[in-house]
Formats: sequence, C-alpha cells, structure tokens
Amino acid sequence: MVKYEKAIDHELSQRLAGNIQEVEAILNDSKKDLQLRRDQYVRNPNLTYHLAIRDGGTLNAIATNLLKMDSVSSLTFFDRDGRMVSSSFRDNKNSIRNFMPSQDAVFLSAKYMSELKNKKDISLAEFADSKKINLIQISKVEGSGGRTVGYIEQILNVNGEFVARIKNRLKLEVIFFRDNGEVGLASHPDFYLYKKEFFKNYLTPGADSFFDLNIRGYPFGFLVSPVHWGISKFYVALGASKNEATAVLRNVNYTFITIVGTVVVLLVFTILVTSSWVLKPLYELVDALQAFESQEQAVTIPVKNNTEIGLLTESFNEMSKKIWTARSDLKKKIFELETANKELKETQTKLVHSAKMVSLGQLVAGVAHELNNPIGFIYSNMVHLKEYAERLIQLVNIAESKPSQLASSKVDFEFDYIVKDLPKLIASCQDGARRTKDIVLGLRNFSRLEETKLQEVDIQMSLDTTLNLLQGELKNRIEVHRQYEPTPLIYCYASQINQVLMNILSNAVQAIDGQGDIWLSTMALKEKKGSQESSEASSTPKDNSKIGWVQISIQDSGKGMPPETLEKIFDPFFTTKGVGQGTGLGLSISYGIIQNHGGEIQVRSQLNVGTEFVVIIPIYPPV
Ligand SMILES: Nc1ncnc2c1ncn2[C@@H]1O[C@H](COP(=O)(O)OP(=O)(O)OP(=O)(O)O)[C@@H](O)[C@H]1O
Ligand SMILES: [Mg+2]
Repeated sequence: MVKYEKAIDHELSQRLAGNIQEVEAILNDSKKDLQLRRDQYVRNPNLTYHLAIRDGGTLNAIATNLLKMDSVSSLTFFDRDGRMVSSSFRDNKNSIRNFMPSQDAVFLSAKYMSELKNKKDISLAEFADSKKINLIQISKVEGSGGRTVGYIEQILNVNGEFVARIKNRLKLEVIFFRDNGEVGLASHPDFYLYKKEFFKNYLTPGADSFFDLNIRGYPFGFLVSPVHWGISKFYVALGASKNEATAVLRNVNYTFITIVGTVVVLLVFTILVTSSWVLKPLYELVDALQAFESQEQAVTIPVKNNTEIGLLTESFNEMSKKIWTARSDLKKKIFELETANKELKETQTKLVHSAKMVSLGQLVAGVAHELNNPIGFIYSNMVHLKEYAERLIQLVNIAESKPSQLASSKVDFEFDYIVKDLPKLIASCQDGARRTKDIVLGLRNFSRLEETKLQEVDIQMSLDTTLNLLQGELKNRIEVHRQYEPTPLIYCYASQINQVLMNILSNAVQAIDGQGDIWLSTMALKEKKGSQESSEASSTPKDNSKIGWVQISIQDSGKGMPPETLEKIFDPFFTTKGVGQGTGLGLSISYGIIQNHGGEIQVRSQLNVGTEFVVIIPIYPPV
C-alpha cells in the first residue's frame, strides 16, 4: 500500500512539475509582453517628447489611452533625474485614475537607476497586501542621440482573476508564496489561514518538493517550485486532488483485505477439516502407539472411513494384533528360558559342589595315604620301643635284685643293640611326627576355608604347599624341577588360587605314566605378553599392566594332547579320564577363577612330549 501511495505521489508530482512549467511560461510571456510594449512606447515621439519636457498632464492623457487598450495595471513616468512626472492606474473598480505629484516629489529608487545605466530595463515582482502580485518592469527611455530622457514603470497585476483562470484551465489549486513562506496569492481562501511557518519547510531554494494537504476534507498533493521573475524570487505551488487515487487505493485496500480475509477463512476451514479428517485419526494412531507399551491387550482403533488414514488404521490394528501375539509368545519364551536358566544354574551349583566333593575325596584319599606312611612307621616303631622299654625295665630290676646276673642278662636282652637302635627309632618317630604335622599344616594352608577376603599370597609358597599334598603321588616317580625367580605377593582369594594350582598339578601328575618330570617356574612381568599362538582360551583381563603381573609355568613330560582334545579342555565336563576318575570340571573351574582374578591361562601341548600351562595373574585383581 505504501509503495502504491508513493507511486501515486510520484506520478502526481511529475504531472504537477509540467503544470508549473506552464505557469512559469505564462509569467515569462507576460514579461515579454511588457518588453514589447516598452519598445512601442519608446518609439512613440509624442510620448518621449512630453516625457522630456516633463509634461505630466499630456503623459496622463497618453497613458489613459494606452491603459484602456491594454491589460497593464499602471503606467508611471519619471524624468531623467528619476522624479515622478505622472502616474495612471486602474482602481479597484477598473476605472482609470491619474496622479501627478505636486510638491511631494516621488523618486525612482537610486539603486534601480544606477542598474539601468547599463540596461534597457529591470524586472521585479512585489507581493502587495491586497492578495496580488505586482509584476513590475522599469524601462529606460532614450531620445535621439542616445540620451536618457526618462523612465517608464509598467505594472502588471497578478491577482485572484489570474489564479482563478489557472485553476479553471488546469483544474489545479494554485498558491504563490513569498520567500518566507507567507501565502501571497492563492486560488482557495483557506490557504490564507495557514501561518507562514507551516509552508516554510516545504520551500527549498533551487529544488521542487511535494507535500500533502487536506482542503475541507479532500486530500490534495502539492508540488512547490521556486520561480524567478526578473531580480525577484518567489515560490509557486500547484495542488491536484488525490481523491480519485485515494478512492482507488481504498478499493485496492478493500479488495486486498477481502482476499486476505477469504484466504484466512479458507485456511482456517481447511485446517479444521484437515485436523478432523486427517490429523485426528493420526493423533489417535500416535496415542495408540504410545499406549501400546502399557496396554494389557492388543490396541485397536475404530476404522472410520476408507481413506488412506482408514487403511493405515486397519494396518495398524493388524500389526498391533501381530505384535501383541509375538510379544505374548516372547514373554512365554522368556519365562521358559528364565526357568531353564534357573534350573541350569542350580544344576551347575550342584555339579560344582559335587566336583568339589569328588576332588576333596581324591585329596582326602591322597592325604590319607600320605599320613599312613609316617603314622605306619611310628606305629611299627612303637612295637620295638615297647619291647626295648620292657627289656630295659627288666635289666634295671635284675641290677637291683641280682647284680651278679646283670652282665649275662645284658647279653640276653641285647642291651648293646638296644642302645644303638633306640636313638634311631626315636629319630624315626620324630621324623614321622614332623611329616604328619607338615601334611596337616599343608592341608590347612591349602583350604583356608575361613578366608573369603582378598589376601596377600606368595605364589611360590602356594606351589610348594600343593606339591607337598601331592607328595604321595610324586615320590619315587616324578622329579620336580623348580626355577623360581623372585615374584611380588599377589592379592587374591588364596584357596581359589590353590585350587587352580592343585588342578593343573594333579592333571600333570596324572598325565605322566611311570617316571617323568615336572618343571615349575615363576617370574614377575611388568607387562602382560600377548596370548600365545597355541593358547586354547584366555580370559580378557582388565588393564592391570601398570601394576604388574606374576607368571607361573607348570610343564610336564606327560603324554600331551592332540589338538582336538586341546580345543575342549576348558569345556565343563570334558574329560578323557575313565568313569569315576575325572569329572572334567577341573580346568573349566580353574578358567573361571583366573578370569575372575583378571588373569589368563595359556596352554600348549604336544602329543607324547608334554604339556605346559602358563597362568598369568595380576598383582591386584580388577575391582
Ligand atoms: N597336563 C595334561 N596333560 C595331558 N592332558 C591333560 C592335561 N591336563 C588336562 N588334560 C586333559 O584335559 C582334560 C580335562 O581336564 P580337567 O582337569 O578339566 O578334567 P579331568 O582332569 O579330566 O577331571 P577332574 O579334574 O575333575 O579330575 C583331561 O581329561 C585331560 O584329557
Ligand atoms: Mg583335572
């Protein structure tokens, strides 16, 4: 709208600029008219003569005649000194009046006279109080020989009639302004009511400017332009009605608002229709989808129509039913799986327990055998000790009652032999007792059942204790070679680590038929080496490399394993041993224990050569 209004103003000001040029042309024409008249007057010898002789009466008569035939408002004559000789003018009633100054001389302005020395005439405009502009031309009159004989002043009135003519012809309002913004002459009485400050801002020297003004409720656009007339400058403003343009604009406005309103109504209607036909079912669908999780049964939405939304709803209902069935099946399966898992766990616990019991049984059998030896020879020594003691008591009795028979009795009771054999028997008993004590101590260290906390363990001591318990199996058959490098204490569950060592060592012992060797070595590692090529399985320990590791190697010269056995040794219940000889749980339990400690077990084996187990345990287990 603003753009449109600007365009109207622009168009209007261009039109008004053309009209202002017309007005300027009219004013210029009147200047030329005055010059033409001046030329006629100067050529009139009668007039120049009477001017030269300052004959006011005759000049009045000549001027009266001239004014009658002419549109000029006044004709005034001055002698060569600039003193007024006579003046003739039209009064308000358009009748011609004459005037001749008597004693009070009236002089032409000295300024104009000096300017006229070099010029034929000067032109100027004056705004008179009675709503008119006087266009004045003062001309020099020269006699024969070029001598100045006087001056003629012609005044042409631009008045209400003039502006009324322009108004009628151009259909425009006209305002002539003084330089200070005051309205000098205007086509409408209202313009005289404005103060000069009101228009002052629109008057810009050397340029046109445009402004809007309401005349009695009607909008007008005005273009103001500076006008020069001779040595004077004033402003003329032409104003055209903007009523039609504004009416068109208003119509455009109405049309625009109507269109926008219709579009908005249509939009609102469309939105309402869309939301009830399209969005509502969609929202229902979304709500149903959101409620899907929490519903106890399959969610279905009523199908309202045959549109795509209806089809979508149908598909959703179908899908909902299918998902619901699948979910119910899944729940059932999960429940079954959970039950099976629970049963499996219970069975596993029972099996682990029974495996423990079996190995405990084996251990007890081994230990019983071990204890049997020292206790056996202590017992058999006891028979001799008892006999020796009885003989010595008898010898003491003989020495008291029959001292003479002592010498022969000593021989009879083999006193010398007893003296020699007794310390040996006592030493043997002491040895047996110490062995028994060691075994019992070893058992206690091994089980440490009371300790469920992490403990500092010397891994070399653990190896030795375990070997001690297996002493019965090793004796006279297997040679043990130790190569212990210093290792730090490790933090672990001692009984569990002992169980692992016992398992691996028992397997090694069982793998050796007849004579053989077991090599044990320990070392500290700063960083855990990567798993060996032949490693069957390894746990994935957390990064404990900053703290350090301890590596234990247990190698035997046993029968070794083929690759297909090696593949399975960590599987629970895998065993190659006969019924009642092995459960096949030893290594799988060991694997679990080492994994829990953040370590790993590596193994390599060669059939008929031997097997090496390498256990790597971090000094600190993972949290
Ligand atoms: N040092 C070894 N030399 C040869 N084979 C071995 C060795 N260690 C383990 N095995 C093989 O791995 C199998 C699994 O060992 P694991 O300790 O798990 O069970 P097991 O010794 O058979 O039974 P259990 O340990 O319950 O007495 C053994 O049956 C054996 O075939
Ligand atoms: Mg075993």
